[in-house]
Amino acid sequence: MEIILVTGGMGFIGSNFIRYIVENDKDFRIINVDKLTYAGNPENLKDMMKGDHLQFYKVDICDYNAISTIIKKEKVEYIVNFAAESHVDRSIENPDIFIQTNVIGTQTLLNAAKKSEIKKFLQISTDEVYGSLGFEDPPFTETSNLAPNSPYSASKAAADLLVRSYYKTFNLPINITRCSNNYGPYQFPEKLIPLMINNALNDKELPVYGKGINIRDWIHVYDHSSAILKVLLEGKIGEIYNIGGNSESTNIDLVKRLLKILKKPENLIKFVKDRPGHDLRYAIDFNKIRNELNWEPKVNLEQGLEETINWYKNNQEWMNNVIDKEYLTYYEKHYKNR
Ligand code: NAD
Ligand code: DAU
Repeated sequence: MEIILVTGGMGFIGSNFIRYIVENDKDFRIINVDKLTYAGNPENLKDMMKGDHLQFYKVDICDYNAISTIIKKEKVEYIVNFAAESHVDRSIENPDIFIQTNVIGTQTLLNAAKKSEIKKFLQISTDEVYGSLGFEDPPFTETSNLAPNSPYSASKAAADLLVRSYYKTFNLPINITRCSNNYGPYQFPEKLIPLMINNALNDKELPVYGKGINIRDWIHVYDHSSAILKVLLEGKIGEIYNIGGNSESTNIDLVKRLLKILKKPENLIKFVKDRPGHDLRYAIDFNKIRNELNWEPKVNLEQGLEETINWYKNNQEWMNNVIDKEYLTYYEKHYKNR
């Protein structure tokens, strides 16, 4: 049995990754460390918590003593760092917490990992560290320049460089993965897809930034999880792997697709003031992970969107609880100025 410390495991991707491992019957004991910010929701793993395979600690990744104690006590072999502030719009309103968690938090984990005998430290990063592409540019490769444009992506790029430096300087066994936009169940409804689904289900306006021409590459969180596990177990030490979904779409086309599946009218769409510094396009070249680790995304976007819509339709209570917790205040403050 392998012992893996997952940080941020009560969030969207972290909880789906844990679910993926447990449901695929992998022989892991998982130690889930999460501070439970607005984005961390124990409900996401409610049905998984029974038994010895999963242990939860409510801890901040910036707390060196607590992290070191857990690593030692649980005899941790792998660390997968999902914990982060993850929403670009929030980073524009309040960058400070992004530097604290994403940069200082990552460095704290690295320091704790350096003091222990771990097999690998895997940093979950993002395609946003590469900045923005023009419509005709080739996709990002692992050797593309880092050119982050938001406080969020700058904090993630800083963390990537720290992770790299601990490999070069201290021989810490690391990998970094950089993935495109995830969608699927349990995503906090500040992000485009769950926000639009929830608003449409409630016949509320769908706020599309600018003209809706920005392009994102969409990947189902299930495919991201399978890629992470591959890199964790088979990735060559010191390497960076891009992960993509092969599914580029403009925001406006994506929103219209959602409305079509939901059988809701397009006049719910409202074009609002653009996000400052809004990246035009992300696209990922994932030939490296495809060729070296034999990984490919399996979920087709149309099918993935239909399943995701069904999940949110069948989990209105989850959505209402999340919204009750914090969201309405944020939503109203955020959109009042647009
Ligand atoms: P999320 O916001 O849904 O979840 C983040 C989790 O981290 C929450 O459970 C939160 O409570 C926890 N957390 C925050 N600060 C913490 C701290 N100081 N200590 C401990 N726990 C803390 O985020 P997500 O969308 O699941 O993203 C997870 C990771 O994947 C992030 O590192 C993000 O940068 C990266 N990523 C996300 C996407 C995407 O499309 N969502 C794509 C590529 C990479
Ligand atoms: O590319 C990976 C990144 O994807 C991750 O690193 C981030 O953690 C994750 O939040 C996501 O960032 P984006 O900024 O691309 O995701 P978001 O869902 O916020 O927005 C997707 C696109 O939709 C973007 O072009 C902005 C636009 N948008 C978003 C919202 C919330 C709208 O038009 N209206 C909205 O209300």
